[in-house]
Amino acid sequence: MKISVIGCGYLGAVHAASMAEIGHTVVGIDVDEEKVKLLSAGKAPFHEPEFDEMLARNVEAGRLSFSTDFADLADAQVHFIGVGTPQGPDGSADMTYVNAAIDSLLPHVGKSEEPTIVVGKSTVPVGTADSLEQKVVDAGAILIWNPEFLRESFAVQDTLRPDRLVYGVSKDEERAKVSQEILDEVYDDILQAGTPRLIMDFPTAELVKVSANSFLAMKISYINAMAEICDATGANVTMLAEAVGLDDRIGKKFLRAGIGYGGGCLPKDTLAFQARTEELGLSSLNFLTDINAINDRRRQHAADLAVEALGGDVRGKRIAILGAAFKPNTDDMRNSPSIDIAKFLADAGANIVITDPAAGPVLKVKRPDINVADSAHEAIKDAEVTLLLTEWDEFKNLDPATLEPAGKIVIDGRNAIDPQTWKNAGWTYYGMGRS
Ligand code: UGA
Repeated sequence: MKISVIGCGYLGAVHAASMAEIGHTVVGIDVDEEKVKLLSAGKAPFHEPEFDEMLARNVEAGRLSFSTDFADLADAQVHFIGVGTPQGPDGSADMTYVNAAIDSLLPHVGKSEEPTIVVGKSTVPVGTADSLEQKVVDAGAILIWNPEFLRESFAVQDTLRPDRLVYGVSKDEERAKVSQEILDEVYDDILQAGTPRLIMDFPTAELVKVSANSFLAMKISYINAMAEICDATGANVTMLAEAVGLDDRIGKKFLRAGIGYGGGCLPKDTLAFQARTEELGLSSLNFLTDINAINDRRRQHAADLAVEALGGDVRGKRIAILGAAFKPNTDDMRNSPSIDIAKFLADAGANIVITDPAAGPVLKVKRPDINVADSAHEAIKDAEVTLLLTEWDEFKNLDPATLEPAGKIVIDGRNAIDPQTWKNAGWTYYGMGRS
């Protein structure tokens, strides 16, 4: 089938390449000329495992192209909207890009004999699809909402073999039927693999996405609240999480205590969801406020520990930060806890040196004012305190006996290293809810 994907960020670019990988002819549209140039040359504009090869392979095979010109999508039957919905000033989702994508797309649809569908993938406030539907219908197409659940660093795997496909369909039965059939054809390969597919109305589909992300954020904040209690009582949050997580009603995943969640999704989506519940007059549902507050406190806590470890004054002290990305195996630093913590300490006068295998080179280009080291060994050399803030394997596997710091103090912001191994090598170890 001929498909277009509007918006070539993490979501859109991976989706476009994945759709080409399962045999479709795909054009990715983005307003960013540089990005389009890179993608057209088969080069990934971000670090994402498995993506580079899949992108290059499909561009080479002629199934995948990229353009800044909406006219290039006119012969596609399926148009995915994968643009971002960044945080607006009041916390709500900024819909500028979604609206612009729809407005630029609609003049080009509905020209063929075949029914055309517009598939919303962006994370939007509940009620968006209902408000857009008539516009899409008037242009001669059908709207269907198909939220995306991919995780960065597993994006390819999650797109090609997702846990589930969710379709939010029109109240109009004919439109619902036609759009569902076309999307089933698009996802035939994924459906054949046995992926559950759930069909529901627009608002439910939109809510599935934000409630899933809020639930994940809640799990993380819950265990981080437990970490605060563990710190106050001398208990060990890692052992607690393991014991609690063995109850399969609870499960072990997303119970890793630390410096909290970051990235382009969980922080933004929980705040936007909170803003939306308030707009809906449901302000008594304020559980998301606590989830966010607990998360924010984790960043401050890690910075405070570093200050405390250095006797209350970090001015002029060299501090090594291992990890800049919001999680390992990505170079994404959006809302990264590590960057905030580095900033708190830099503002307090510390001399920060930061290292990250993938985000480090990006930082070097974008932030020449930041001291970026090429390796953990280099960053830690002569540092008075070391903070491990992104749990890359190469940081987890460091042999503390081989490092040459000025002060053997480590703050393990992800509970990622073995306290005893580091203590045996003479280090003072600070964990998050464990010591
Ligand atoms: C998240 C969701 O997991 C995806 O399902 C969703 O599709 C995506 O947002 C999105 O809305 O696009 P992602 O932002 O890639 O995916 O990152 P996660 O793997 O969820 O991690 C988020 C943050 O939580 C990271 O900073 C991570 O370090 C932190 N985290 C995760 C913890 O602190 N503890 C944990 O136990 C797990």
